[in-house]
Amino acid sequence: MAAWEHLLPRRRWFLLSSLLLAAAAAAPVVHGYGGGGGLTVGFYKESCPQAEAIVREGGAAAGHDDPTTTAPLLRLHFHDCFVRGCEASVLINSTKTNTAEKDAKPNHTLDAFGVIDAAKEKLERKCPAVVSCADILAIAARDAVSLATKAVRQGRWSKDGNLYEVETGRRDGRVSSAKEAVTYLPDSFDGIRRLITRFASKGLSLKDLAVLSGAHALGNTHCPSIAKRLRNFTAHQNTDPTLDASYAAALRRRCRSARDNTTQLEMVPGSSTTFDAAYYRLVAERRGMFHSDEALLRNDVTRGLVHQYMASEEAFLRDFGASMVNMGRVGVLTGGQGEIRRRCAIVN
Ligand code: HEM
Repeated sequence: MAAWEHLLPRRRWFLLSSLLLAAAAAAPVVHGYGGGGGLTVGFYKESCPQAEAIVREGGAAAGHDDPTTTAPLLRLHFHDCFVRGCEASVLINSTKTNTAEKDAKPNHTLDAFGVIDAAKEKLERKCPAVVSCADILAIAARDAVSLATKAVRQGRWSKDGNLYEVETGRRDGRVSSAKEAVTYLPDSFDGIRRLITRFASKGLSLKDLAVLSGAHALGNTHCPSIAKRLRNFTAHQNTDPTLDASYAAALRRRCRSARDNTTQLEMVPGSSTTFDAAYYRLVAERRGMFHSDEALLRNDVTRGLVHQYMASEEAFLRDFGASMVNMGRVGVLTGGQGEIRRRCAIVN
């Protein structure tokens, strides 16, 4: 049995989140410089000074209780930004007349909505109608990934106790469509050309694609997302040939059926709650979970970045922060656009 086969899907949460919170509170914070698309670092400095601390507290408490909540918080922001931009359409509930993004198939395994809703409730008590749900998603994603990063926890990273500084000032949208989620969210079977096109359509580069895919250092997947790679791949090949054969065999043993929705598979066996560059080693070994992960090896630029990040975790962490800021600017509503939702699941 290979070393990674026996590993449990969940690891103990050993983060000293309270220490981190204290460090973040004590660190000097740079406020108020302009970002892209009308966003700013420290947008709520005057209007709701506790905004970021309230969101962080909720995320850290959730992470303390269950370390696997960091991954879904990061994924929520991505799934928000890729459909209509980062305007919290992913949080809106379906109604009798509208099936919302939340209920689209690619979103069925999204999680951690409760963490966002709880932060919003607290914020509405402190600063009613000020902090957008879209910003809560962006802050929570930044905090989640920061809390999961060793260099940040150990104070070896300089961004105020965070991996990167998050821009805020987004407003919330009023529309959410399941059909749009199916159309715009990348698929785990996408090849490199499709992925590049999808990212380019959001103003994101090949580099953003390669570095943001590193988010798969965190979290779990479910069997239906990889079933096609494991059995009856084509009429002639049982297994996806781009997946390492022994890894495929191990995954097949875990996934007995394509409909098994309960088995959780760690994206990076043994370290799925630690944010680091381990994902890139797996990709290079053709042990990335998805066809879309392996696809990064099919383009000179993205393949070069896979090797660069394998060699330098520091480069990965630095570039990841920059690309998260880029993603956080996609299609944002600012100024007088949209609204500040009172409850994240319901338009005002
Ligand atoms: C490049 C295209 C991408 C594709 C095709 C893709 C696809 C997927 C799929 C299929 C899953 C597993 C769903 C399941 O079986 O439960 C997943 C999980 C995840 N994705 Fe992606 N993803 C992509 C990019 C990203 C980006 C850009 C981010 C964040 C910046 C991200 C963050 C995550 C995280 C954190 C998880 C684990 C979630 C959890 O444990 O609950 N992904 N992704």
